[in-house]
Amino acid sequence: MTLALRQFEMTVLGLGFLGLAWSKAKLRGYATPNAVSKSDVEGQIAYLLDIFGSLRRFMPPEFDLRGRDVLELSPGASRGNGVLFLAMGARSYHAIDVFNLAGDEDPVFYELLLDRFAGGTEADRARARVVTSTPGAREFSYAVGPDFDIPGLAGGRTFDLIVSCAAFEHYDSVPDAVAGLTQVARPGCEAIHIIDLQTHSRWIREQDPNNIYRYPEAIYRLFRFPGQPNRLRPADYIAAFKAQAWGDVRFVPSRTVDPALRDISLAGLAAPFAGQGDMIVLDGALTARHPGWFDG
Ligand SMILES: C[S@@+](CC[C@H](N)C(=O)[O-])C[C@H]1O[C@@H](n2cnc3c(N)ncnc32)[C@H](O)[C@@H]1O
Repeated sequence: MTLALRQFEMTVLGLGFLGLAWSKAKLRGYATPNAVSKSDVEGQIAYLLDIFGSLRRFMPPEFDLRGRDVLELSPGASRGNGVLFLAMGARSYHAIDVFNLAGDEDPVFYELLLDRFAGGTEADRARARVVTSTPGAREFSYAVGPDFDIPGLAGGRTFDLIVSCAAFEHYDSVPDAVAGLTQVARPGCEAIHIIDLQTHSRWIREQDPNNIYRYPEAIYRLFRFPGQPNRLRPADYIAAFKAQAWGDVRFVPSRTVDPALRDISLAGLAAPFAGQGDMIVLDGALTARHPGWFDG
């Protein structure tokens, strides 16, 4: 098949997937935050250990979690990252979201997760078991609000570390989200946000990872639903953090388009994505430091 024909095929198929995502959101709301089913306990544990490992890799080597207060934005179906932060000696973990996807999580899952986690000291892992099995513990908390008012959902707390995974690409206004998290960041706070830039719908993301970038804004937005990927690119995220005076702002790519899919992935993209040098980047992490020094 010629490149032009394949491009046409992907553009038509992609419209079908945009329609499918829109109808699923209308019928079921925001229900599947990641590819692992909530009933697949082993899969959830493997997913969380992998994500937590990535978050740790992006932490500055000198950053010690001990005694720190951590905020996770949009944890999806599980607060498992919080369990692992506590096991690493963090003082507290607070999670906030716009959809209540983790509200009914069974604390038994935290026990199973801790059984598989070798990091941290025995004393910290023991404390994590106690804190995460105590209903309403302030050191392991969760707040949900449909307006995603970050300072409001933080309830007056401030943080030394703010993280997220596969969340920022869903935000309606990234500048507002960064302004909100800046208000709850202590001086010297580290930010680590893993961002998935590619097409989210299964199947087509494997065939044509840049599919969502094929459509002009007006067409893409016809299929708009809460949580639809916002199609921002690394430079947009960097600009949003710099606008709030964060320092050392970087976007480190993790995965790029498979060489076998490069031609089709870069052909036929809509403005302003066509011809952009970074369109082979599929995901990565935004890291930044809030100005000021830790006093701890
Ligand atoms: C793809 S899920 C990722 C969840 C989790 N971090 C993970 O890795 O499984 C996206 C997350 O963003 C949240 N989200 C979706 N749309 C949002 C919006 N417009 N504002 C704030 N959060 C949103 C969802 O509730 C969910 O927690």
